[in-house]
Amino acid sequence: MTEANRSATLTLDGKSYSLPVMSPVLGPDVLDIRKLYAEADVFTFDPGFTSTAACESAITFIDGDAGELLHRGYPIEQLANQSNFLEMCFLLLYGELPNAAQLEDFVSRVTRHTMVHEQMHNFFRGFRRDAHPMATMVGVVGAMSAFYHDSLDINDEWQREVAAIRMIAKLPTIAAMAYKYSVGQPFVYPKNSLSYPGNFLHMCFAVPAEDFVVNPILEKAMDRIMMLHADHEQNASTSTVRLAGSSGANPFACIAAGIACLWGPAHGGANQACLEMLREIGTVDRIPEYIAKAKDKTSGFRLMGFGHRVYKNFDPRAKVMKESADEVLGLLGIANNPLLQVAKELERIALSDDYFISKKLYPNVDFYSGIILEAMGFPTSMFTPIFALSRTVGWISQWKEMIAEKNQKIGRPRQLYIGEPKRDYVDVRHR
Ligand code: CMC
Repeated sequence: MTEANRSATLTLDGKSYSLPVMSPVLGPDVLDIRKLYAEADVFTFDPGFTSTAACESAITFIDGDAGELLHRGYPIEQLANQSNFLEMCFLLLYGELPNAAQLEDFVSRVTRHTMVHEQMHNFFRGFRRDAHPMATMVGVVGAMSAFYHDSLDINDEWQREVAAIRMIAKLPTIAAMAYKYSVGQPFVYPKNSLSYPGNFLHMCFAVPAEDFVVNPILEKAMDRIMMLHADHEQNASTSTVRLAGSSGANPFACIAAGIACLWGPAHGGANQACLEMLREIGTVDRIPEYIAKAKDKTSGFRLMGFGHRVYKNFDPRAKVMKESADEVLGLLGIANNPLLQVAKELERIALSDDYFISKKLYPNVDFYSGIILEAMGFPTSMFTPIFALSRTVGWISQWKEMIAEKNQKIGRPRQLYIGEPKRDYVDVRHR
């Protein structure tokens, strides 16, 4: 628990209240208002939590002004260029980079949990074929609590660990099954001789009639996409996972809640929405029309893949993603991909426009990811499921951190009531 080192004073109706000031390792100081209601009989009002820290966390740090993202202290650029997704999972879960033996053990544990309960295949078959894969994933991940009873006890550290490994291992299998089901192809079982990203590509694109060889360019690109999405501190879906978990709900139910929250277009759903927008724009000459629409508040249109609650300079993930898009499309021999050209020109025009400059709106992680995923052969409906399977490690690390806290409390915000004052019931005959 962070100790307060000084205090601020709130004066209200002539009375003064001392608010301890806590200093984090990095980031702005935090006013501790936990006793405010008990002592001063007032709440604070902060819809959207723009100024509220809801927990202590040692996992991820973002400096939005500097465009910096650190996982357990390590910059995302270094991890994306030098690490790999499973090593990063270890780092997020346990706090340190693994040594060679620890990494081997972790990879082996994840790899041996990649299959899902055979009965789950029937569960998939209950969905309509044209269901969005995110709809299927919300249902199937929630249903994991009906299949894995031996890892539901949140008070048992070992069971929490097993649930974590199961989810990291099985989410790619579930996402790939959701995809296969939507295109009417047979499910492809995981192949444990392949890497984590390679196996995911195999489960998505292999068919029984042909041999499938994982393209190493795509395998590396997939691994990087997973790393860039692995965690992002207290965003909407992570806060949803924490809030669901704060009631003591089982980990599978909590991650299903996170997936549901991620789906929205303001959050993880933006990658699908962004690619659809780029397709709609289609050619560079139509960009000014869309820029004008984004600036017109009455249009209800926003540039998807642009803007972020925390980043006010640039999103470091977008920078790496853009480099990756260039590299992957170049290696695939499609560097002149028209969507990449539209995206780059859109970014250039937006970043020289006063509206976007003054509001500090920059491309976010979702701006370039869809271009790479499309080049790999994924339909847009799979973009957000790929975000979800990559973010699972972040959700589960944050959930484990919360459950391990000694004084963990159920999350329960207050409100500023604006409804009717107390009034008497009137019988229907007299209304
Ligand atoms: N296009 C046009 N105007 C925008 C955009 C945009 N993409 N984003 C924000 N604005 C404007 C907004 O209209 C507002 O203007 P004003 O101050 O005049 O009312 C101002 O910028 C601040 O926006 P906000 O909605 O108050 O900011 P927020 O921090 O609540 O929202 C956001 C952040 C990411 C939801 C928002 O920027 C957005 O909707 N972006 C498009 C969707 C998107 O790309 N989401 C992915 C986010 S990153 C990955 C993830 O979290 O999953």
